[in-house]
Amino acid sequence: MAHLHFCICMLLAALVSYTTAQLIVNVRNKGGETVVEKILANTTADTVTLEFLNSDGSLVTQFIDFKSEVQIFRIYVLGEEELGSTKPQAMCFITRFLRNDFISSDAMSKLRQKNPTAIRTPEEEKEMSIHSLDLMVNLDKGHVLSPHVFNICSEATDGIFAQETDLRTISKSLAKDYITLISSTSELVPSKHPRCRDTSDIGRPCACELRTCIGWYPCGLKYCHGKDTGGRVVSYRCGIKTCKRCLSFVYVAKLKTKCLWDF
Ligand SMILES: *[C@@H]1O[C@H](CO)[C@@H](O)[C@H](O)[C@H]1NC(C)=O
Repeated sequence: MAHLHFCICMLLAALVSYTTAQLIVNVRNKGGETVVEKILANTTADTVTLEFLNSDGSLVTQFIDFKSEVQIFRIYVLGEEELGSTKPQAMCFITRFLRNDFISSDAMSKLRQKNPTAIRTPEEEKEMSIHSLDLMVNLDKGHVLSPHVFNICSEATDGIFAQETDLRTISKSLAKDYITLISSTSELVPSKHPRCRDTSDIGRPCACELRTCIGWYPCGLKYCHGKDTGGRVVSYRCGIKTCKRCLSFVYVAKLKTKCLWDF
């Protein structure tokens, strides 16, 4: 049970009184390999960053901006040398953050594990989250979505992608107007193009799918019950629920050669 291995240590955090804290978690993936996840919470900015290097060499960063209700997935994919592309590709995918899919930055900053070298497996696997991205966000305008887009996505030379329906929902809930700042053209709608894996035309745009899995993350809190000094029953945060979630990002790649992993 995860709550035996993790505590939300209020006292420790109060004594040290920092606003950022990093947790390093060893996670077993499907292939039996261990992936090392670094999770950093910044309570001042109200953000969480989860980062790991896959065994295939890709580097995945999940960044959650709780204030803007936005999450950014930045993925670096290594080039395939035998196919003549040696430069890594870098993409950013900006999606709506669904509240209750990750514990708060405050709870995250207080999370400590009793045995840091243990290899973790999640308690629950969530269903795959599929994102069909039909907008490109200009790096200079990304700040209207989240002030962190510029820092996180400045190296995403292969594109910063988002989904119009996501942005409409966020703009409603935060009373901001994004849509006028980010333009969409039918050329960016994945369903208007052949799948990269099916097309033999290497010179045209195609719909590329990139999949990744967040192998372990704290997806909720567990509560314990006890009695206070007056004998009243109280409930308090005493641990976490852990989940795994795979994600599928479908977007328009300029060329089939920009989507070599999708066969
Ligand atoms: C945490 O966020 C604050 C406010 O955005 C920022 O000034 C600070 O540098 C951040 N700390 C770290 C370690 O990133």
